Amino acid sequence: MNITVIGTGYVGLVTGVSLSEIGHHVTCIDIDAHKIDEMRKGISPIFEPGLEELMRKNTADGRLNFETSYENGLAQADIIFIAVGTPQKSDGHANLEHITDAAKRIARHVKRDTIVVTKSTVPVGTNDLIDGLITEHLAEPVSISVASNPEFLREGSAIYDTFHGDRIVIGTADQKTAKTLEELFRPFQIPIYQTDVRSAEMIKYASNAFLATKISFINEISNICEKVGADIEAVAYGMGQDKRIGSQFLKAGIGYGGSCFPKDTNALVQIAGNVEHDFELLKSVIKVNNNQQAMLVDKALNRLGGVMGKTIALLGLSFKPNTDDMREAPSIVIADRLAALDAHIIAYDPIAASHAKHVLPQAVEYKETIEEAVKGSDAVMILTDWANIKQFPLAAYQNLMKTPLIFDGRNCYTLDEAAEAGVEYYSVGRKAVVPSGAIQ
Ligand SMILES: NC(=O)c1ccc[n+]([C@@H]2O[C@H](COP(=O)([O-])OP(=O)(O)OC[C@H]3O[C@@H](n4cnc5c(N)ncnc54)[C@H](O)[C@@H]3O)[C@@H](O)[C@H]2O)c1
Repeated sequence: MNITVIGTGYVGLVTGVSLSEIGHHVTCIDIDAHKIDEMRKGISPIFEPGLEELMRKNTADGRLNFETSYENGLAQADIIFIAVGTPQKSDGHANLEHITDAAKRIARHVKRDTIVVTKSTVPVGTNDLIDGLITEHLAEPVSISVASNPEFLREGSAIYDTFHGDRIVIGTADQKTAKTLEELFRPFQIPIYQTDVRSAEMIKYASNAFLATKISFINEISNICEKVGADIEAVAYGMGQDKRIGSQFLKAGIGYGGSCFPKDTNALVQIAGNVEHDFELLKSVIKVNNNQQAMLVDKALNRLGGVMGKTIALLGLSFKPNTDDMREAPSIVIADRLAALDAHIIAYDPIAASHAKHVLPQAVEYKETIEEAVKGSDAVMILTDWANIKQFPLAAYQNLMKTPLIFDGRNCYTLDEAAEAGVEYYSVGRKAVVPSGAIQ
């Protein structure tokens, strides 16, 4: 089939590349001419394991190309995917301006009967809005069927998830559209669930809200563990063995970030509010997360009395490992707070540093290696559990720091390892490890 994907971000580019990999002819459209230029040269605008290789391979095989022109990009399309961003507005609602812009441009340039599939995460009712906009602005007398197909990939393993997802959700009342989309997705060999459009839209928000709830829940339990002398790692393991609970998303840390959970939880609170439902549970989840993001700084302040003039090394800046995405990363909250307290901030990230420079305070100093970042610092904060950060030997902190003081927001080490290395170690939901002789 001939597929056109509109928007080449984490979702659109991964979708386009994956559909070309299973044999379809795919054109990816973006309004960002620089991105399109880069992709034409074989350079992926985002870091995502395996993506650039597959992108190059399918471009070379003639199944994948990139366009800024809707006219060229839509000429042959049997199916059009909308994968543009739906960022958060200041009042928490999803900003739909990219969606409405894409819908109007589709209407002006579509030349044949086509299925338009919304992959972007959009509030319930948005597919009806898209349908209405396209119908209103159509330039040719063609028939358009609009369907919802929410995306569940995780950044950092997006290609893997596309080929190994748990389910593909298709929201449409039109059986012919459903059949065509099932045929399109069949090679992925992932269970397909067809439902109505509004339920499909809601499945995405409900799924993200539920996962965010799990994270805030385990973070709250971790805060209680610290006070009652329990160990969150043991507690989470014991809970996770219960199949009704499941072991995933029970990792205590410094809160969720990224381009989805923060905006989607806020958007769902607004969606509920618009129908006069006060989503109290989700509001608490968001509040708990905001507190959790600041928790490491509180611990440092407790331990050090203040951080003015102290050198603090931040290890890991992206919101999670294996991505360069800095959107809503806890490192932003932490660096802002440390900067406001006049700390001297050194930062290291294996991939995301160039993006971080645009969102972290100006005064942050960047280093190329963990060693350079840690050397001579007064305290280290581990913010993202990239493999090389997790595997960095604790003994090296001993050699590189005046007094090795570590605040680990990702529980990268066991308490035994910390005690053995003789470092002073504060993690999440566990006892502090304080070597004898350390000043407290
Ligand atoms: N990032 C994720 O992990 C993820 C996962 C599931 C769902 N989603 C959802 O998918 C959607 C896209 O997310 P993303 O992270 O890929 O966004 P992104 O910001 O990385 O990319 C969006 C792209 O769309 C382009 N764009 C904007 N308006 C356009 C237009 N009118 N025509 C063509 N291109 C246009 C932008 O230039 C940009 O390249 C969002 O609704 C998001 O909530 C994201």
